[in-house]
Amino acid sequence: MNSGNHFVWEYQPNLSSDSRPLPIDASKHTTEEKLSFVPQILALEEVPAFLPDDIQPSERLPMSIGGIGIDQIRADFPILKRTVDGNPLIYFDNAATTQRPVQVINRISYYYLHENANVHRSGHTLARCSSSQFEAAREKVSAFIGAAPNEIVFTRGATESINLCAQAYVKQLLNPGDEIILTLLEHHSNIVPWQVIAEEKGAHLRVATVDQTGQIDMAEYAKLFNNRTRFASFTYVSNALGTVLPAQEMIAIAHQNGVSVLIDAAQAVSHIPINVYELDVDFLAFSGHKCLGPTGIGVLYGKSALMNAARPYQVGGSMIADVTFERTFFHKSPQKFEAGTPNIVGAVGLAAALNYLTDIGMDNIAAYEHKLIEYATDTLSTVPGLRFVGMPTRRVGALSFVLDSHSNDNVAEFLAGIGIGVRAGHHCAQPIMRHFGLEATVRPSFAFYNTFREVAKMGEALRYYSKPL
Ligand SMILES: Cc1ncc(COP(=O)(O)O)c(C=O)c1O
Repeated sequence: MNSGNHFVWEYQPNLSSDSRPLPIDASKHTTEEKLSFVPQILALEEVPAFLPDDIQPSERLPMSIGGIGIDQIRADFPILKRTVDGNPLIYFDNAATTQRPVQVINRISYYYLHENANVHRSGHTLARCSSSQFEAAREKVSAFIGAAPNEIVFTRGATESINLCAQAYVKQLLNPGDEIILTLLEHHSNIVPWQVIAEEKGAHLRVATVDQTGQIDMAEYAKLFNNRTRFASFTYVSNALGTVLPAQEMIAIAHQNGVSVLIDAAQAVSHIPINVYELDVDFLAFSGHKCLGPTGIGVLYGKSALMNAARPYQVGGSMIADVTFERTFFHKSPQKFEAGTPNIVGAVGLAAALNYLTDIGMDNIAAYEHKLIEYATDTLSTVPGLRFVGMPTRRVGALSFVLDSHSNDNVAEFLAGIGIGVRAGHHCAQPIMRHFGLEATVRPSFAFYNTFREVAKMGEALRYYSKPL
């Protein structure tokens, strides 16, 4: 939440344009009293998980993904069993980070218990084992996104991957007056790295706008390209609105103009299948922790020819072929970009996470989540005073809303009080917030281990909260 380190229950008058009485009025009730209102909301098990009986069975909401029961899947995520102040945890902050299944947690322990050693150095048993697990992880990542292993660089996360691409490849292409094309939907991590190199080189950012639904205006997008354009980057899925961008079409436009493209796939990778060759994308970045893997590990995919043309981003051990005090020869990519001891266990844990997703099937996950987010949109649209921010036709992962007469922080704190974790704030995407005349929204964000019952409970809680007492 965007409210510092303390709970913010206070009503913020500047955010309310409406004089309706607040359902929970901070000026009249203590925190304990406010929490005592909460039991009026149905317990999770009482909330109807399914549509009413008159709905055709084929339209009923699913309880399994790819033939695996949702309860069985949830049992793999130990943290989902915990309670928050006596309420079952409902975790709707998956865009910030996902939870980890026991398969990932156990894989990390196993590595430290049985395989730990540094990589690409020594020849003893543990070192060989660790190196082969690290390289097997690279193979798993490459297979997951349809790439070749030597096109995968391990980084700390999507942010570092984007910085690497900007500093190592794009910066050397720029001259004063050149342009880089972004979109209004970008996370700050896909704005600032480009801004910094543009400033350094006297280049400029051009920004594709969106319509009121939060979708890119494609006719305008094509017009942004000209003979000064040197690079384009865009998010596959907006972390603030959930918009899925028409990646293939946008990449084709860039390529027709002779420009390479990076896709920020941080919010796409755990929700929809990705194939870099089908997309024909030049670079792609994502973080392990947003797809069930550990924190501190991420991926930069880059076409071999481009990666080999890029300059090393950081230099030191492991990335060199030969060093004298007079000169150094670097390895080819990917080693050229992995200076120092890498996050070995992070890569191994990420491979376990991607194995888990592969076993369920990304198509199955996408189909289930599609229904879940449609159900969430339908459910929340019945909440009095709730206004969606952005209504894209293709959406995954997240949705954003504001509630009349209530600050975003208060809504999130109310939900937190009954065990429902959502994010309120600008979601590190201030340009798109401000495009809609806002500084912040409430953002529930979903994963395949969330249930229709949990969504129904959030809807019911918000209906309750939005009603005057
Ligand atoms: C779309 C998008 N890009 C990039 C990032 C940065 O990811 P990380 O903080 O894991 O580097 C995020 C994080 O929320 C994101 O949502």
